[in-house]
Amino acid sequence: MAFPRSITLYLLVSFVLFSSLLHRPTFAIKKSYVVYLGAHSHGPQVSSIDLDQVTESHYEFLASFLGRDEAKDAIFYSYTRHINGFAATLEDEEAAQIAKHPKVISVFLNMGRKLHTTRSWEFLGLEDNGVIHSSSIWKKARFGEDTIIANLDTVSVHSPFIDVIKPGVWPESKSFSDEEMGPIPSKWKGICQNEADPGFHCNRKLIGARYFNKGYAAAAGPLSPSLNSPRDKEGHGSHTLSTAGGNFVAGANVFGYGKGTAKGGSPKARVAAYKVCWPPVARNECFDADILAAFDFVIHDGVDVLSVSLGGDHVPFFNDSLAIGSFHAVKHGIVVVNSAGNSGPNDGTVLNLAPWQITVGASTMDRQFPSYVVLGNKMRFKGESISSKALLKNKFFPIISAADAKTSNSSAGDALLCKAGTLDPKKAKGKIMVCLRGDNARIDKGQQAALAGAVGMVLANDEFYWNEITADPHVLPASQINSTDGVAIFAYINSTRFPKAYITHPTTELATKPAPFMAAFSSKGPNTITPEILKPDITAPGLSVIAAYTEAQGPTNENFDERRVLFNLVSGTSMSCPHVSGIVGLLKTLYPKWSPAAIKSAIMTTATTQDNINEPITNTSYKKATPFDYGAGHVQPNRAIDPGLVYDTTVNDYLNFLCALGYNETQIILFSEHNHTCPKPIFSLVNFNYPSITVPKLNCSITVTRTVKNVGSPGTYSARVQNPTGVAITVKPERLKFEKVGEEKTFKVTMKVEEAAAKKARDYYVFGQLTWSDGKHNVRSPIVVKAI
Ligand SMILES: *[C@@H]1O[C@H](CO)[C@@H](O)[C@H](O)[C@H]1NC(C)=O
Ligand SMILES: *[C@@H]1O[C@H](CO)[C@@H](O)[C@H](O)[C@H]1NC(C)=O
Ligand SMILES: *[C@@H]1O[C@H](CO)[C@@H](O)[C@H](O)[C@H]1NC(C)=O
Ligand SMILES: *[C@@H]1O[C@H](CO)[C@@H](O)[C@H](O)[C@H]1NC(C)=O
Ligand SMILES: *[C@@H]1O[C@H](CO)[C@@H](O)[C@H](O)[C@H]1NC(C)=O
Ligand SMILES: *[C@@H]1O[C@H](CO)[C@@H](O)[C@H](O)[C@H]1NC(C)=O
Ligand SMILES: *[C@@H]1O[C@H](CO)[C@@H](O)[C@H](O)[C@H]1NC(C)=O
Ligand SMILES: *[C@@H]1O[C@H](CO)[C@@H](O)[C@H](O)[C@H]1NC(C)=O
Repeated sequence: MAFPRSITLYLLVSFVLFSSLLHRPTFAIKKSYVVYLGAHSHGPQVSSIDLDQVTESHYEFLASFLGRDEAKDAIFYSYTRHINGFAATLEDEEAAQIAKHPKVISVFLNMGRKLHTTRSWEFLGLEDNGVIHSSSIWKKARFGEDTIIANLDTVSVHSPFIDVIKPGVWPESKSFSDEEMGPIPSKWKGICQNEADPGFHCNRKLIGARYFNKGYAAAAGPLSPSLNSPRDKEGHGSHTLSTAGGNFVAGANVFGYGKGTAKGGSPKARVAAYKVCWPPVARNECFDADILAAFDFVIHDGVDVLSVSLGGDHVPFFNDSLAIGSFHAVKHGIVVVNSAGNSGPNDGTVLNLAPWQITVGASTMDRQFPSYVVLGNKMRFKGESISSKALLKNKFFPIISAADAKTSNSSAGDALLCKAGTLDPKKAKGKIMVCLRGDNARIDKGQQAALAGAVGMVLANDEFYWNEITADPHVLPASQINSTDGVAIFAYINSTRFPKAYITHPTTELATKPAPFMAAFSSKGPNTITPEILKPDITAPGLSVIAAYTEAQGPTNENFDERRVLFNLVSGTSMSCPHVSGIVGLLKTLYPKWSPAAIKSAIMTTATTQDNINEPITNTSYKKATPFDYGAGHVQPNRAIDPGLVYDTTVNDYLNFLCALGYNETQIILFSEHNHTCPKPIFSLVNFNYPSITVPKLNCSITVTRTVKNVGSPGTYSARVQNPTGVAITVKPERLKFEKVGEEKTFKVTMKVEEAAAKKARDYYVFGQLTWSDGKHNVRSPIVVKAI
């Protein structure tokens, strides 16, 4: 039992609190909280009687603070399987008292998390510091604005078993067809929770689905009973799940674009959906209490890989349901992959910062949907879109700046952005309108232009977005162009009395160059909680990804959009995350015994920092991207299957990591269910055996250690170093000889500030790399340093 009762303690505490209860002001406001108690000591073969006892112990524990009846009313989740704790509605004062109890690791508010669909929520002004504007299409939420490709199409492995925590799924999608799938693996213990939605079926592909909404209800009010289903009514869950593990679907396309066979990274994997996200309340939609409940079942059900395209705020690990849930999952051998967030390109925006998570940024792929803007002076500009409508071929239309179509009651600036209510149909009718990107959603600009009677739209990036072009399913013929081209088109409009243009129907173009480059929206390092751990870890395709969609909504998720698509093109780190999940699924098939850390290491050390013209990967302003953009680099699945060496870590290492963060042994025992002795002297975070090396405060010099394990053929590896500017690096020993698989070798990396060039290293982080090479494998780690 997790909670051996202590009668004396119980009486004492309840007496003390009972007397304070009597004076509890009746108007006190209750909020929903998670009370996190660590791990359970019961083994996996736990009986349902034991589980009931755990729940009983939670009631009893809370009763010692509130009284018996109140405790029963207050608890809405009891986490009984792997994660120990409960969720309850409490007053602030009660939560504070409970937090002081020695058995409690943390008490935190049941807060909302965001889906990482697109950066547009943050950047395009759908909400402003959590406030939803009345004009916002937020209610229908995320815009499936961008196009997307499930890209690991060279991989045709029969893969294991990959399961995904995601906000629901559209089970009728062909991506979840179980054609040619064998029987459900016997280790599967999940269910298809469809009692309130009998039309929702699982099968041998989609082998399980559950939903969790009590935490949502406690924080945001009750949900319509029609939502008691794992069904995905908004598209995000189907898209991400099918990207990770969707079956082959020939002839997939969005309005004819991107035609091909859709498939997930692990196309033969089984999938399961855990729906934790519900219609948005303010900016959030997925609540901590539900997320933890889902994790508890994910571990119980027998999932191998968990793809979590969600993120919250920069809170300490023990206040972070995603960090806590991931820790428990990883402890049980489940690989957890998370999105980095869509709040870039500013520094320190990356989320999902724990070393046991795989955190994925987003970059482009080599596919575009070009649609040319041709001006009356014959100039041609290459933009992109996947509009379902086309203009008459080669017929010119008048082209105007949207600012010139402004209504008398609006500003030119708002009209230029094509905001609702700013465009005058008398001026817009029959014309191609040039709208500026920013503030309102891209899709919305097209809708406003169409409502005003425009026949087409040129969407011009501003300098912030520069060259980040997303192919959106606009409702009218449209093309999105880069900022330099935008300036040229505005200049043309100014230069002539009768400016005219046409927009070509988009086509699908493959092998575009350069690719990849980083998306501006992809959240960036450094890690604001533990700067010694580089985040993100890796980047993967997250722009214009095509995957399965819901048929409950149109591809833009807007009310006005009555189109329905089986597949949609979407952008975000939500889309890059399941690419890595799919790849992890393949590695799990190949190496079922590898730890989550070994799999992560394989993915990181084989990544590339070069694009398809062999130049360093850039960001959207054509500057060299850094490990704060892409971590170890762009994922290369074909290399990840043969990494040569791995930087492995055990649960024990994670516990030492927690020791280094300042948690004491008493707390760590609760967290881990085993005794743990923190190393003395306390181990330094820079020595955590991570596949990247970060020293955030280098004072003169430092030596860090790492250990590599051979997972390839016997061989001798030599170290090759690329020094960060102003820092000299030496590695000892310089050669590592491995005679057998599983052999481990430790080495030391000494970094020394070189005074002559130290200024750069003091001004900002500098970047280098260490590569161990045996001639066949290149085991590369980014090095990130800031000198003081
Ligand atoms: C953790 O959450 C609790 C409850 O919301 C809050 O009081 C506490 O300040 C948080 N801790 C930190 C370190 O943010
Ligand atoms: C903008 O797009 C055009 C294609 O129309 C391309 O030739 C040009 O290099 C791009 N410029 C920048 C600065 O991205
Ligand atoms: C301008 O007036 C029209 C008609 O009254 C209204 O629909 C529109 O919302 C107004 N626009 C702004 C920006 O206030
Ligand atoms: C075009 O003319 C408008 C109004 O006269 C001006 O604000 C804008 O800067 C001009 N744009 C360019 C690119 O010359
Ligand atoms: C690209 O990188 C440069 C140099 O690091 C930086 O100044 C710029 O802000 C970055 N742009 C984006 C969109 O990330
Ligand atoms: C461990 O930390 C908790 C919480 O800060 C504290 O109550 C406890 O006394 C500490 N235990 C030890 C052995 O230091
Ligand atoms: C932890 O160690 C103590 C003292 O050695 C022992 O009494 C206790 O049973 C151990 N607990 C677990 C969970 O192993
Ligand atoms: C850097 O190291 C020197 C020598 O050990 C020490 O005197 C100094 O206080 C350190 N500086 C900082 C900022 O820690």
